[in-house]
Amino acid sequence: RSRIHDFYNIDHVLSKVKLANKILVITGAGISTSLGIPDFRSSKGFYSKLESLGLSDPQEVFDLELFHTDPSIFYSIAFMILPPENIHSPLHSFIKLLQSKQKLLRNYTQNIDNLESYAGIHPDKLIQCHGSFAFATCVTCQYKVKGEKIFPAIRNKEIAYCPKCNSTRLKLLKNDEVSYLPESYGVMKPDITFFGEALPRKFHDSIKKDLLDCDLIISIGTSLKVSPVADIIERVPPKIPQVLINRDPIDHCNFDVSLLGYCDDVASHLCQKLGPKWNIPHPKYS
Ligand code: OAD
Repeated sequence: RSRIHDFYNIDHVLSKVKLANKILVITGAGISTSLGIPDFRSSKGFYSKLESLGLSDPQEVFDLELFHTDPSIFYSIAFMILPPENIHSPLHSFIKLLQSKQKLLRNYTQNIDNLESYAGIHPDKLIQCHGSFAFATCVTCQYKVKGEKIFPAIRNKEIAYCPKCNSTRLKLLKNDEVSYLPESYGVMKPDITFFGEALPRKFHDSIKKDLLDCDLIISIGTSLKVSPVADIIERVPPKIPQVLINRDPIDHCNFDVSLLGYCDDVASHLCQKLGPKWNIPHPKYS
């Protein structure tokens, strides 16, 4: 991507944010780490904690086929990324502030913690590209429950079973018909997009149009390693300024401006510079 506009420092970011009214915000795990939720690929991230599972690639914990073969693997580690409820970070508040100021076109989040909803990001403004823990669905009968219903099982590192299918499952097991029973029979799967699953329709329905409509891109707290979200950056028309806010530099994408640091701090700094009407409300704990 060659630079076609004079846009390379924080003052330019501030002036673009002031002028913009269709900001496309891409977010990842880094916006929730200040709440104690690990990101995925950092040295102390979620994937670094999975060595004992003996997988060839830790990403396999989100592999659909493996989930069907042995759901206990996912349920043995999911507690580590279980989202806290009714809490969000200052960065979530920053996105909410962009929304309140009619500047947010859309927030494409790769996060599955659903904290954007607690922060008050409107469902129309939010694309949860990799689904979320907000709901869970039975892999056998598709019965859906609120995510919280399976949180106790996740905390106990136990497989969550479907309230509708479980009696049949137990009957089949009792009658020694185990050989007919797939491991994942009647298992609840959180509505997270696993590798091997299509992204939610909403993503594909919105992204093309949003790429044409947006007037600024801000990517925050993501390593941009997973497609198709990672590919958004290279699909952006060259005239649209692209800003990175991240703890670590992202070398494989050519951002116009990289504001490196903890995203809560960078956002607070930006808001301070934007003026008194840009107070990030203190996150509510309810
Ligand atoms: P990664 O763990 O790959 O990247 C997180 C990025 O956030 C890193 O570049 C960190 O430097 C940065 N970071 C961490 N804490 C930060 C902070 N406080 N402030 C600013 N930056 C910070 O996570 P994602 O890019 O979100 O898929 O990962 C994308 C997808 O890969 C996830 O959605 C997940 C995973 O497989 C599923 O859950 C299905």
